[in-house]
Amino acid sequence: MDIKKEPKNNLYELVNTINKGGSRLKKLISKLIDSSKLERNTLKLEKKRENIVEILKGIVEELIYFANQRTVFLNVKIPEECYLELDRIRIEQVFSNILSNAINNTQKGGNAYIKLKEKNGYVDISIKDTGIGLTDEEKEKLFKKFGKIERYGKSLGVDIDGLGLGLYISKELVQLHNGEILVKSKGRNKGAKFTIRLPKIKSILSV
Ligand SMILES: Nc1ncnc2c1ncn2[C@@H]1O[C@H](COP(=O)(O)OP(=O)(O)O)[C@@H](O)[C@H]1O
Ligand SMILES: [Mg+2]
Repeated sequence: MDIKKEPKNNLYELVNTINKGGSRLKKLISKLIDSSKLERNTLKLEKKRENIVEILKGIVEELIYFANQRTVFLNVKIPEECYLELDRIRIEQVFSNILSNAINNTQKGGNAYIKLKEKNGYVDISIKDTGIGLTDEEKEKLFKKFGKIERYGKSLGVDIDGLGLGLYISKELVQLHNGEILVKSKGRNKGAKFTIRLPKIKSILSV
């Protein structure tokens, strides 16, 4: 292609494509770095008392444009505040991955529901969608490193971007917080629900 001869509109499109490619590559590299740190046990958390509701709201705001583009509706039911000891950046990463997975794996016109429930010793943040769901076989695979499930060419009407590192990293990050990620789905096209369960750790200072 001779760039000098291209009409302006084509150039805008080209710059846009390059930009998207660059940002995809950046995400991929940071995922590879994270997973290598996790394997070598060198990923250190920086925990602080944080309002997890604020963190959730921030991620929803960040992804709402993307959800609108795919016409997936986000239904948020969360309380005003809920404080936990956690590494903000790392938990943001987990929410962002699980919510973008829900948006990606739901057909146009579908819904995603975000809830936060405080239980006795822990807090459950659930992200449920009305999307393509997971078979038992897929559930076995999805937390593995490079556990991408190929949806290409299956006419499922979902976004097929990604390499399958997101849930592997998310699971490890939640485990470093002494929590766990639970997954439920009744099968293909029955939707999926991911619950991030984080423990409430009583601060020595609080009475
Ligand atoms: N909410 C969901 N509904 C259906 N399938 C899902 C959902 N979330 C994740 N998956 C499947 O699990 C695989 C692994 O997810 P993830 O590790 O985040 O990788 P990716 O980089 O592909 O997003 C994805 O390829 C996707 O097919
Ligand atoms: Mg993902």
